[in-house]
Amino acid sequence: MKNILVVGGAGYIGSHTVKMLASRGYNPVVYDNLSKGHRQAVEGLPFEEGDLGDKTRLKEVFQQYQIEAVMHFAAFIEVGESVKEPSKYYHNNVASVLNLLDAMQESGVKYFVFSSTAATFGEPVQPQINESHPQQPINPYGNTKLMVEKMLEDFDRAYGLKSVALRYFNASGADDSGCIGESHTPETHLIPLVLQAAAGKRPSIKVFGSDYPTPDGTCVRDYVHVNDLARAHILALEKMEKENKSLRYNLGSGSGFSVAELIQEAKAVTGVDFKVEYEARRAGDPAVLVADPSKAQAELGWKPMYNLKQIITTAWNWEKNRRF
Ligand SMILES: NC(=O)c1ccc[n+]([C@@H]2O[C@H](COP(=O)([O-])OP(=O)(O)OC[C@H]3O[C@@H](n4cnc5c(N)ncnc54)[C@H](O)[C@@H]3O)[C@@H](O)[C@H]2O)c1
Repeated sequence: MKNILVVGGAGYIGSHTVKMLASRGYNPVVYDNLSKGHRQAVEGLPFEEGDLGDKTRLKEVFQQYQIEAVMHFAAFIEVGESVKEPSKYYHNNVASVLNLLDAMQESGVKYFVFSSTAATFGEPVQPQINESHPQQPINPYGNTKLMVEKMLEDFDRAYGLKSVALRYFNASGADDSGCIGESHTPETHLIPLVLQAAAGKRPSIKVFGSDYPTPDGTCVRDYVHVNDLARAHILALEKMEKENKSLRYNLGSGSGFSVAELIQEAKAVTGVDFKVEYEARRAGDPAVLVADPSKAQAELGWKPMYNLKQIITTAWNWEKNRRF
């Protein structure tokens, strides 16, 4: 049985991946400082409370569990906050990751799976973003993630540390069991905000910009189910270990949906005609962000299994009965 340290495993995407790892015969060990995550999201599994910045503690955990690979989800994730407080982001998303990589080096752990993001690409220069698209982030959050990708390239060249960087587009949905789902404070992601409006927990949903050069004027995004992302992590880990090489993949469905289309689908799924308010554009939101996932499909055999309706349905089941 393979012992995988899942750093940030008590968070949204981490907890879904932990659940899937356990169901596939791996032994995930969650390492999280619970600054944003939830202990209930990983009940019944090995859990070590600790911070990324604590190298001594990380090395103890590597040794205690004989860790073979690390999946790294821990980061601060709010673009707007990263503009106002970049120092916080460079510390947690870059400096602490360097600390983790050093701890891995000193403990002889050679495989690393990294949660990167579409935000490393910045403004798209082509309709669908593939792995050769230029990486020019337009905010500190995207910069921090690109810096780690660069660090990983250097660590491979110098020390032979193999890594996968998975650049997710819009992670969304919840586990079919309804036991775990998305829970961020504050919540900034569109689907949970829309569903909170449907559940009457918010008076309305605000749409920023209706004059973009898109068919209905609202922004177009690529939504990918969290369990599809979890599956891609396991496939990529296995390929990296088997071939002993570093890999990079863009993970999205390849289809874009506008904010207005998503709201329409959410009204159909929930049966609630919640209030929608249109406001001015927000700075830094590209009109369209859609992945070209063909490399992941060809090399990993990965194809998203959940469509937009299923994404919203699972997220709605979670929103109605959430435990945290
Ligand atoms: N949610 C998305 O749509 C999305 C899209 C692209 C990339 N990502 C990336 O995926 C990863 C996971 O995102 P998420 O939505 O699950 O976030 P999340 O906030 O739900 O989870 C992050 C987890 O990391 C933990 N953590 C943060 N800093 C830590 C530290 N210093 N030490 C130990 N634990 C720490 C938090 O407590 C939390 O449990 C992030 O790296 C994010 O940048 C997310």
